[in-house]
Amino acid sequence: MTDPFNCPADVQRLLSRRASSCGLDVFGGRICRSSSRFCLGVEHGDYNGTELFGVGTDRFIWMAYKLNGSNRIRLFSENFPEDGLIDFEIGRVPEPRSKLLQDTWARFPLGVHYILQREGYPIKKGFDAVLYGNIPGGGMSRSASLTLNLILTCFELNGIGAVDGTTTVDLAQAVENDYIGSPCGKLDQIMILFAREGMGTYYRPATGSIEYIPLGEQAADFRIVSLDTGTIRPGLEKSTYKIRRAECERLVELAGSQFSITCLADVREEHLYRSIVQKYGKKHPQLCRRLKYIYEAQNRFTRMLDAWARGDIETVGQIFRQDGIGLRDDYEISGPELETMCDIARTVPGVLGERMLGGGDKGASGALVRADAVESLQAAIAMGYPRSHPNYADQYAVHVCQTVAGICLLDGLPA
Ligand code: GLA
Repeated sequence: MTDPFNCPADVQRLLSRRASSCGLDVFGGRICRSSSRFCLGVEHGDYNGTELFGVGTDRFIWMAYKLNGSNRIRLFSENFPEDGLIDFEIGRVPEPRSKLLQDTWARFPLGVHYILQREGYPIKKGFDAVLYGNIPGGGMSRSASLTLNLILTCFELNGIGAVDGTTTVDLAQAVENDYIGSPCGKLDQIMILFAREGMGTYYRPATGSIEYIPLGEQAADFRIVSLDTGTIRPGLEKSTYKIRRAECERLVELAGSQFSITCLADVREEHLYRSIVQKYGKKHPQLCRRLKYIYEAQNRFTRMLDAWARGDIETVGQIFRQDGIGLRDDYEISGPELETMCDIARTVPGVLGERMLGGGDKGASGALVRADAVESLQAAIAMGYPRSHPNYADQYAVHVCQTVAGICLLDGLPA
């Protein structure tokens, strides 16, 4: 989709300066802008088979690019200048999960190239690119945004059309799962690729379908706020995320055949839920707590969708808050800094709900906030958060977001 607006002037300046200093010719090319995402439910539901709902948010990655007439792909990220120029020949990339790549963002373009070639897409044309992003790490899907941006750019430059959204999502997930080694699900990719301004994206895994639900007209004016704790979350493969996934799979393995379930989302009926807890509660209390969160969050999900469609943002907020308590106490996927943000936000009148976001442990929490309460929230965080976590006093940030389209093709840097 094209956007009538261009890339912000300060981002253009940043990209132009960097392109010139690195000798990358992207002038007169195009810019692909990919968004972040905010999940309204069910957080940690994707790999458990639940339905999903979320929106695109206006923190972005901008990538300016142009064909370079060679067989090399050359990129520079303004966010990782210490990694220098990433420069590789088409068809020559390190093997998946190579140790060499662990600490460089190069694993993303290399992974995209590897997966597209593995899947038979004719990637033949070299290009130059410079990137800059302002998506906070941990919680708003920076890596999925980058991966999608790179995939769509490769498609565009190589004249590969007509790849449907579901396939693109699968490719982006494969880059992270197979090449990088991150055990992520599909939530992030779906919520970014399909996002539309002012709409919630509703995904049903049973049919693989996407439906857009506009926010009801009666909705109070509200903002989506990301509360970046300033902590750095290691990859999902190194965090509690991986352990939780394994626990959920373990319960399905134990209970699967007797209770006819293939994922935790299959446990919808109260009777079934109670029978499983009765059977495994004593021996595997922690597995049953994981199930409790998924079961309860899934029950709340339909009410949340209805509330969104009615414009009852107060109820959406309450459910968001209840999900947060389940994620904290039953799923045990939050972290101290994330919870400090929530504890502060919860005391501010006009904050409708708050919880940790995304993979867990570290990164960002989020809040749904009445527009007239945003300033009070900012003041409360500025006062409270650095007192609790002085080590992050210079790193934390509050991002006040709006819903946006996930992917936009913009005019490039002027030639
Ligand atoms: C991370 C993963 C997603 C999803 C969320 C939790 O963002 O990449 O697949 O599991 O955590 O909802």
